[in-house]
Order: sequence, then structure tokens, then C-alpha cells
Amino acid sequence: MKALYKKEAKPGIWMTHDAPVPAIGANDVLIKIKKTSVCGTDIHIYKWDAWSQRNVPLGLITGHEYVAWSTRLAARLLALSLGTGFRARASYVRNLPQLPQRAQAFVHSAEGHCVNQPGAFAEYLCLPAANAIKIPDGVSDDFAAIFDPFGNAVHTALSFNLVGEDVLITGAGPIGIMACAVCAFAGARHIVITDVNDYRLDLAKKMGATCTVNVAKQSLATVMSELKMGEGFDVGWRCPATGCIPLHDRSDAAGRKNRHAGILPPIWASIGARLFSRPDHQGIYGREMFETWYKMIVMVQSGLDLSPLITHHFPIDEYQTAFETMASGQSGKVILEWS
Ligand SMILES: NC(=O)c1ccc[n+]([C@@H]2O[C@H](COP(=O)([O-])OP(=O)(O)OC[C@H]3O[C@@H](n4cnc5c(N)ncnc54)[C@H](O)[C@@H]3O)[C@@H](O)[C@H]2O)c1
Repeated sequence: MKALYKKEAKPGIWMTHDAPVPAIGANDVLIKIKKTSVCGTDIHIYKWDAWSQRNVPLGLITGHEYVAWSTRLAARLLALSLGTGFRARASYVRNLPQLPQRAQAFVHSAEGHCVNQPGAFAEYLCLPAANAIKIPDGVSDDFAAIFDPFGNAVHTALSFNLVGEDVLITGAGPIGIMACAVCAFAGARHIVITDVNDYRLDLAKKMGATCTVNVAKQSLATVMSELKMGEGFDVGWRCPATGCIPLHDRSDAAGRKNRHAGILPPIWASIGARLFSRPDHQGIYGREMFETWYKMIVMVQSGLDLSPLITHHFPIDEYQTAFETMASGQSGKVILEWS
């Protein structure tokens, strides 16, 4: 099968046409990938940074944001589904006669610590059937393909009360931008997002931010004063990659109310708590199985619009351009089309 993999220990990603179709285990489903989205983690691997060199084995097929068709269940699951015994994912199995069903599926390897497992930049992927979620009507393939990072944003944002609150989001990456949409959906008052990238701040505005701040050009304190926010923010999230402590510090000082703080990834929670002596710093990781997924589906069905964030589509054979576009910082989510 066709797949993208890390062939050599240097920047880049390579295509093969000869990867074996994964063998299906007793409790597995084989899915045919329809769309994949390029994650920031994929860009780390593409650039072959120090983290990737430590964590990603050469030869690995990468990728973990996708929507797929389910094609084949393992024989045991199929047998169970024909009887009455298979209840755990009843809605999923009920649709077997109409296979292939459109399914967004995810594995724990979507979380960074398992990036050494075979991924979704491939025509086929095998995963535990219980980890597949059927995507219902009202959720487009494009949206389903970015449910993995959307889940991070939803899980982060909904870890706190938002109704009537003032929120500060540091970092207008895809997760920060989607967090804006969730805050707006959930009824926050001021949704202020900072970055040093105007392209991404514009996307955040389209997705529900009430105020965008380029901290390389503007002072957050001035913006807060214009918004008459004497008491600071109720909730603050830090969503940039590592190495941004100085500006974190500045935005932290803006949160004098300091009721809550969420930080991605969790390591910053302990560092933040120690740096700022604040026990209410909370590290947030991944998504909740399956509560976050149900919430995502319902919010999208109820009108939360992710489309401004999806800025580029490429056929899979143009994967080089897709990765370069994502790496440039001048994009929202970039989707690769497999069929
Ligand atoms: N914990 C989890 O489960 C989980 C899952 C996915 C991603 N993450 C992490 O969440 C973070 C956000 O993910 P993403 O894909 O949106 O990241 P991203 O790297 O695409 O975006 C980060 C943004 O932060 C901006 N930024 C950098 N320094 C800044 C500063 N000082 N002030 C304001 N903005 C600044 C960058 O310009 C960029 O737009 C990343 O650190 C990622 O590793 C965590």
C-alpha cells in the first residue's frame, strides 16, 4: 500500500508504494484512510528535531489525525455482531450491513507518548475496534479528520467554567484557535488570544476570539486596560510549544484573578506551579474516552463551525507541499486527501 514514512535520519518524509497492509488482530478493525490532517507533531518528525530523534524509530509510518472508512472487522467481532453479544459499540456494529461506514477512529498513539506505533499516513490502518467512533450525519469528513486536535481543545476548554468568564489563550496554534471556538460556543465574555503570528491570529478572530494580540507588537496590559479588565482573566491557557517561558510569564502576570490555569502539555503545569507558586495550575493531556468525542460531535451538529481553520487541502501525492505549508506557520489545518 501507499504510505508516508520516516525513511532516513534527516529532515523530510518519504512515500512508499510497497508498505504491507497491516495484519488484523482478533479484536481489530481494518480501516481505509480517507483524509489525514497534518499535526504539529508530524512537523516535529518531519524536521527531525531532537525530540523526534529520541522517540521515533526510522521506518515508521507516521500520522494520527484522520477520518476513515471501516472495511473489515476481525472474524470474532463479526460473529459477535451477528449475534446479540456485542454491545459495547452497538451503534457501530449495527451499521455493518452498509459497510464501509464512515468512521473516525483513533488510537492511544494519537497521544505523543506512543508515536512509535504505525500511523495513519497510509492507505490502511489496523486498530482496536473498540477505539473506532462512528461519525454521524451532520459532521463532515473534514471536521472528523481534525477531531483529534479538536478533542484537545474541547477537553482543555471544558475543564473550566466558561459562562461569562474572561479567558486568555496564549498561542494561536490550531488548538488555541479551536479553544476560541469552544469558549464562544460555551458563553465566555472576553476571549483574548495572543501569538506572534498575524496569520494565525486572523484565523482565531474568525473562530470566535473577541480580541487578538500580537505580543511582539502590542502590550497585553494595554489591551486589558482597553477592555476595562482591571481584575485580570478568570481562565488562562498556554498552548504554544516549549521554549516560550518569558512571554508565558508576561501573560501570567495579566491573570491576577488567577482562578484557573490550564497548560498544554502537563510538564508546564508543574513548572508553572513552581515558577508562579500557584497550586491551581493544571496540566491537561489528550482527550477523554469517549466523553470528549460525544461533546465534539454534538457541538458540531449544533453549529460550532471549524471550517475557517481548515485552510488547505492537498492530494496525498502532494504531501511535500502539504508538510511545507504546515511548517511555514502560514496555515491553519492542512488536510491530505487519500481518495
Ligand atoms: N497535552 C496534549 O494532549 C497535547 C496534544 C496536542 C498538542 N499539545 C501541545 O499543545 C500545544 C499547542 O498545539 P498546537 O498544535 O496548537 O501548537 P503550535 O505549535 O501549532 O502552535 C503554537 C503557537 O504558539 C505561538 N507562540 C509561540 N510562542 C509564543 C508566545 N511567547 N506567546 C504567544 N504565542 C506564542 C506560535 O507562534 C504558534 O502559533 C503544543 O505545545 C503541543 O505540543 C498537547
